Amino acid sequence: MDELVGGLRRADSVTVDYDPGRLLQGDEWARRAALLTTVLGNGPFGDVIDLGSGIGQVSAWAAARAGQVIAFDLSHTHCLLYTFFMWHRKVGNAHVFHGSLAGLGGEHAPHPVDLLISFNALSRAAVLDQWPHVGRYLRPRGQALLAYPLLYGDADPTSEESLALGAGLGDGSGEWQPPTPPGLDLVVTGRAGKTQISLPCAAIMTGRKELFDFATGRPSPCWKGLPYFPIELEYRLYRAAEGSGGN
Ligand SMILES: C[S@@+](CC[C@H](N)C(=O)[O-])C[C@H]1O[C@@H](n2cnc3c(N)ncnc32)[C@H](O)[C@@H]1O
Repeated sequence: MDELVGGLRRADSVTVDYDPGRLLQGDEWARRAALLTTVLGNGPFGDVIDLGSGIGQVSAWAAARAGQVIAFDLSHTHCLLYTFFMWHRKVGNAHVFHGSLAGLGGEHAPHPVDLLISFNALSRAAVLDQWPHVGRYLRPRGQALLAYPLLYGDADPTSEESLALGAGLGDGSGEWQPPTPPGLDLVVTGRAGKTQISLPCAAIMTGRKELFDFATGRPSPCWKGLPYFPIELEYRLYRAAEGSGGN
C-alpha cells in the first residue's frame, strides 16, 4: 500500500530517499580529498568528468586541479544540492548535468577528457552496462577512477553483517569485481576507506531491491540490520592506452 503525503504518493516526492547525513560528515570530505590526491596526484588534469557527482565532493576536489569539471547525476535533488555546494565553495568551473553518460550521444556527448571519476555512484548493473564504454570519453593516456562498495554477493542477506564487508565478516569469496573496460589497462587497485550507506542505496547498488520496500519507504520485513551502516569502498584506477580512447 503506497504511503500518501497530502494525498500524493510519498515515493514520488523529491525528498523520499534523501538522507542528509553524509553532508554532515566533514571528516569524510577530508579523507576523500586525501585519497584522491594519493591515487591521482595533484594535477593539473585538463577537463574532468565526475559521473554520479552527488553533492559534489569529488567535483570540488577536481575543480581546484582541472580546467572544467563536467558532472552528471541522475538525481534532481543531488543536482540542486551540487549547485548550492559549488556556489558555497566558490567553485566556478564545475557544471552538473542532469542525466548520465549512458543517455548521451552525438552532439550531446562530452569531448574526451583527461580524467573520469565515478566515486561510489554506479550500481553493479550500471557498472556492467556503462563502464565498458568509458574509454570513448577518455583521451589517449587518460585515466578513469572507479570506486564502488565492497558488498558480498550473499545469497540471502538479512542484515548488514551478511551484506557488507564493512562489518568485518566473511572471507571475501563472494566478492564482486567490476570488469576492465576494453582499451583500458588496470593500473592499481586498493581500499578507499569507509562510507555510510543507507539501506535503499545498498539495495540499489547491489541490485537487491527486495531488501527495501520502495513503495512505502520502509525496510523489508526480512531486513534485520540498521537502516544506515558503514561499508568499505574499493577503487580501481585504469589508464587508456596510447592511441585509444575518444572513439
Ligand atoms: C552515494 S552518491 C555518491 C556521490 C559522490 N560521487 C560522492 O562520492 O560523494 C551516488 C550518486 O550517484 C548518482 N547516480 C547513480 N547512478 C548514476 C548513473 N548511472 N549516472 C549518473 N549518476 C548516477 C546518484 O543519483 C547519487 O547522487
